[in-house]
Amino acid sequence: MAKILVTGGLGFIGSHTVVELINAGYDPVIVDDLSNSQPQILDQLSKIIGFKPVFYQFDLCDKQKLIEFTKAEPDIEGIIHFAAFKAVGESVQKPLKYYHNNLTSLLNLLSVYSGKPVDFVFSSSCTVYGQPDELPVTENAPIKPAQSPYGNTKQIAEEILKDAIASGDAKNVIALRYFNPVGAHDSALIGELPIGVPQNLVPFITQTAIGKREKVTVFGSDYNTRDGSCVRDYIHVVDLAKAHVAALRLMANGTYKGYDVFNLGTGNGNTVLEIITAFELATGVKVNYEIGPRRSGDVEQVWGDVTKSSNELHWKAELGIDVMMSSAWEWEKYLSENPL
Ligand code: UD1
Repeated sequence: MAKILVTGGLGFIGSHTVVELINAGYDPVIVDDLSNSQPQILDQLSKIIGFKPVFYQFDLCDKQKLIEFTKAEPDIEGIIHFAAFKAVGESVQKPLKYYHNNLTSLLNLLSVYSGKPVDFVFSSSCTVYGQPDELPVTENAPIKPAQSPYGNTKQIAEEILKDAIASGDAKNVIALRYFNPVGAHDSALIGELPIGVPQNLVPFITQTAIGKREKVTVFGSDYNTRDGSCVRDYIHVVDLAKAHVAALRLMANGTYKGYDVFNLGTGNGNTVLEIITAFELATGVKVNYEIGPRRSGDVEQVWGDVTKSSNELHWKAELGIDVMMSSAWEWEKYLSENPL
């Protein structure tokens, strides 16, 4: 069983990926500093997988701790690097915090594992495309100036990884550009756990439906889209998690070399209003919403071309909007009865 270091493994996407790694016969080792996750997720994971996964709590910006980790776990064969700050708005207020955390952790991982035969999967984002000139956007689309320090950390990280491959500091790297991950595991034992007021659409919808928030504000209804609200490519987090297993498999295959990047979406766009309707249809629960002004920094529409992921990563999203909404709702209901 190949041992895989999963940084940020107690977070939203990380925890779902831990489950999929175990389903695929890998041996995940979690590192998480709990800065944006809860230790109770370890117990939740053990309810799903039947045992408590190996967990180390430290900040990857602490290089000494990382070196100690490599001594305790000398046989890591792959790294999936989720650990990063991700709040777009906060990154504008506190850019140095974002540059320091997101880039120092990456640099520490690369330097500590430099020259070692370790395959590396990086969490990138469709935010690197900005507002694309052509839709659906392919991996060859030009990288647009970042709209936020958060987005910039993803762009810079991709550049760092490319250079590390060119210099031989890294063996194999796959950067995965996520579109909008939503939904939760079908056990309803893990899911997204926003701290404070959710910034993202789907947790805002589920918290409104359960009565924690008064209403959802739809940010803008005057965009040039079919109903005036923004379009995104929403993807189920379990599909997204499975793509990380596909990336490890591709790199383990002797023919893969170097650096590559893949879009992870469904290939379809949905408007904000369509998502609200889909939630209501999937759950039978009405969502109180109002139309508000545009949110600064939002792109009008983006959805991914997933041909390359399908042909070369041998991965495709399988779960539809209905399952994304119903699973997110089951998780919200679970949380309201079993607060973590
Ligand atoms: C953005 C980034 C993504 C990043 C994520 C992290 C882009 C294209 N995407 O996603 O890379 O990982 O933030 O948080 O830059 N909306 C409402 N009301 C709400 C919340 C959201 O109408 O209360 C709308 C937004 O305007 C947007 C859509 O819902 O059109 C999705 O928003 P959100 O869930 O915040 O994700 P993005 O901004 O697309």
